[in-house]
Amino acid sequence: MDPETLALHTGIHRSQFNEHSEAMYLTSSYVFESAAQAAARFSGEESGNIYSRFTNPTVTVFQERLAVLEGAEECIATSTGISAILACVLGLLSAGDHIVASRSIFGATVNLFNNILSQFNITTTFVSATETQEWVAACKTNTKLFFLETPSNPLTEISDIAAIAQVAKNAGARLVVDNCFCSPILQKPLELGADIVIHSATKYLDGQGRVLGGAILGKRDLLMDGGIYNFLRTAGPTLSAFNAWVLLKGLETLKIRMEAHSAHALEIANWLTEQPNIARVLYPGLPSHPQHHLCKLQQKTGGGIVSFEVKRR
Ligand SMILES: Cc1ncc(COP(=O)(O)O)c(C=O)c1O
Repeated sequence: MDPETLALHTGIHRSQFNEHSEAMYLTSSYVFESAAQAAARFSGEESGNIYSRFTNPTVTVFQERLAVLEGAEECIATSTGISAILACVLGLLSAGDHIVASRSIFGATVNLFNNILSQFNITTTFVSATETQEWVAACKTNTKLFFLETPSNPLTEISDIAAIAQVAKNAGARLVVDNCFCSPILQKPLELGADIVIHSATKYLDGQGRVLGGAILGKRDLLMDGGIYNFLRTAGPTLSAFNAWVLLKGLETLKIRMEAHSAHALEIANWLTEQPNIARVLYPGLPSHPQHHLCKLQQKTGGGIVSFEVKRR
């Protein structure tokens, strides 16, 4: 099925009222038939909802739908994009571990790696987003995680996901890709060899500036047994049911919006190129972009973000 169809129909579990649009389950916890059932649910013998910090039916629909779009076995939703990154690193790493990260990542992620993880003896080496050899050279015996964002925020540098995934594999590390700028409509990092995709759902997945949200996607055993879900359940940066519902509505129109963003961004980039006061336009969909060729290989379009430099007077 096409992404438009999947984004409308995946994960619908209608209630007894047969509602057309997904119900919003604003509940902190759930009622049990008996104390024995509660005990069985808490011990994991019986599946089912217990408490909305762990699971919530509205959040589950969002997770199922985004997982299908991203081509992932599992999705864990989080309260924000940055908490998705935090859950990934604290779920997978321990004190003494090392991260290799692209230098071209969102500022709060740099701050998290440099100033917060460093307090717990998790160190980071920053390398070029585009020079794969730098990733090879930065690996140490304790390197456990590679982290990149492509296209990067805000300069739209493009990393070679397949090549860096191979370097990560050789080093015994996991590759995490922040797919915020493309969304699954334009790029599927898991198909290119990444182990985990993270999203700031606050951006294109909502698309209308209404709520904060995040997501972690990848193989079920890595997410559920590898420490990430346990971190989320215990530390609590959970997505609210209300925000999950808003994001669900965002997913329904994601494909058509990404196509419009891409068409408009290309038009603006072309217009900027012709302006006398503009020194440089950075848009992956333009042949002048340094990684335009790579963009054509791993993305469907140049995306919705354009950067430019204004000439100094
Ligand atoms: C590429 C990228 N990743 C992650 C984040 C963090 O997301 P959030 O603001 O939802 O915590 C942002 C926010 O701007 C971003 O641009």
